[in-house]
Amino acid sequence: MKQGGVTIRIPFRKAKEERKSTVDVAERIALEEQVDIEDEPGIVQELEQEILQEVEHEALQEADQEVIPKGPVLQVQEVHRSFETGGRAIHVLKGINMEVQPQQLVMLKGRSGSGKTTLLNMLGGLDQPTSGEIYFDGRAFHEAGDAARTRMRRQEIGFIFQAYALMPLLSAWENVELSLRMAGVPKGEWNQRVAYCLDMVGLTKRAKHRPFELSGGEQQRVAIAKAIAHRPKLLLADEPTAELDSKMGAQIMAVFQKIIATEEVSICMTTHDPTILEVADHVYEMVDGKFIT
Ligand SMILES: Nc1ncnc2c1ncn2[C@@H]1O[C@H](COP(=O)(O)OP(=O)(O)OP(=O)(O)O)[C@@H](O)[C@H]1O
Ligand SMILES: [Mg+2]
Repeated sequence: MKQGGVTIRIPFRKAKEERKSTVDVAERIALEEQVDIEDEPGIVQELEQEILQEVEHEALQEADQEVIPKGPVLQVQEVHRSFETGGRAIHVLKGINMEVQPQQLVMLKGRSGSGKTTLLNMLGGLDQPTSGEIYFDGRAFHEAGDAARTRMRRQEIGFIFQAYALMPLLSAWENVELSLRMAGVPKGEWNQRVAYCLDMVGLTKRAKHRPFELSGGEQQRVAIAKAIAHRPKLLLADEPTAELDSKMGAQIMAVFQKIIATEEVSICMTTHDPTILEVADHVYEMVDGKFIT
């Protein structure tokens, strides 16, 4: 069946399956409303028709959501960034263009001092370009005021840093909970979501531990659970594996791939590690403030 020029398959199969149960439902509604089915033989068919229409309407809406292709999560156009130090301007980013698509794992590589962290900070709204445009989920990040950028960052972006950035006095559980509190997620949803996120990174058994009671890899996995808890669209990670050995680094990358598949998040990260670059959907290489292709 065609709707808006798009073929719908899955939801209609579902609708068909649900069709079987509509007679039952219609009969139950008739009973609840104390309509005498014998007196009004048409009532069940009428209700059945109504329910069927509703099921199909819902299926169509679901189909719309499923098939309309989403735009890029990030679009960066001609971004420049200079810093003034001691009366001298340092031109760090010199015309960056890039894109991150939904559920993509994008990596930035480049020599130390090439500007990767500077760019990542701007992608997350922590800093503003000197010139150029950054669109986050279709919205002009470069034009947003501080308050709007902070709101978007807290609610729709997650950050992971090289050195874990956990609150030292809080347990793993409380650290994850904190990001839900900061994002304004209703309290009633916290328990289930924290438990789910800690399970996703394989740390259910460490929930009560504080950071100093965890290994580096475990701390970084708590940091990941914390960064994704509020269901961000975008996860930014600055050298998330730099302080870990290769086995733990591989574990972190496995967690990243898992959350891309299950959480509908895109990840943009920096790394120096060539073995890690292999799992990227796309790698941008920064040289002298620009990407080389
Ligand atoms: N706030 C600032 N003021 C002045 N210069 C800055 C500032 N932030 C960054 N820079 C300069 O910009 C350049 C790029 O720094 P950046 O931290 O982005 O590099 P990087 O690619 O992340 O390096 P690394 O791989 O070592 O982390 C450096 O020369 C740095 O000194
Ligand atoms: Mg850096």
